[in-house]
Amino acid sequence: MPLLLHIDSSPRSASVSSRLANAFAEQWKRQNPEGRVLHHNSSLEGFPYLDELFIDASFTAAETRSAAQNEALGYSDRLVDELLAADVVVLGAPMWNLSIPASLKAWIDLIVREGRTFAFAADGVTPLVPPSKRVYVFSSRGGAYPPKTAFQQLDHQEPYLRRILGLIGLTQIEFVYADHQSSSPEAAAEGLARAEARLAALMR
Ligand SMILES: Cc1cc2nc3c(=O)[nH]c(=O)nc-3n(C[C@H](O)[C@H](O)[C@H](O)COP(=O)(O)O)c2cc1C
Repeated sequence: MPLLLHIDSSPRSASVSSRLANAFAEQWKRQNPEGRVLHHNSSLEGFPYLDELFIDASFTAAETRSAAQNEALGYSDRLVDELLAADVVVLGAPMWNLSIPASLKAWIDLIVREGRTFAFAADGVTPLVPPSKRVYVFSSRGGAYPPKTAFQQLDHQEPYLRRILGLIGLTQIEFVYADHQSSSPEAAAEGLARAEARLAALMR
């Protein structure tokens, strides 16, 4: 049974990124009627931040961890299990302060786990997540950061997500942008329409 892991990260009820990610999930479900969708909203669920116990536990060999250390890793283990089980991952990710919401970063901190999603190697890092999984990122932004413009270098969202998800093996990533959401209503509507057209093309 195929599994779609769907993670939104905007707390807004009128969220554009969540609306797009949700439209993707609904279409995916229509195309995969036997499939299952697992949904989180990192902003509403309050994924825990890493503390000292977690960090010590995550760098302790599994067979020597104490009960307290195993418990400290429990939340992260469940999120990693979900990621490893998923065939497709969809992220709703508003641009916040040139990057992603802190709650989405909290999810990343919980799933980038030595020994579970990556391993240290002599020359760097070996990804442990199978590269077959596809990732779709639906990002809404107040402005726009097109390639080959002065604004591109301000975008710390796409380069960061590509780098960190690639590090664990998620290299097949599509970004869909709803730009200009803080501009005029016309520009915002046009930005959304472009994103919806791209979504439709991706689902064909
Ligand atoms: C805290 C915060 C920070 C933001 N920072 C940026 C930014 O750096 N660049 C930008 O283009 N838009 C920025 N915006 C605008 C949002 O990206 C835009 O409103 C987007 O549609 C929000 O996504 P959502 O509709 O899914 O909540 C910011 C909005 C908020 C609330």
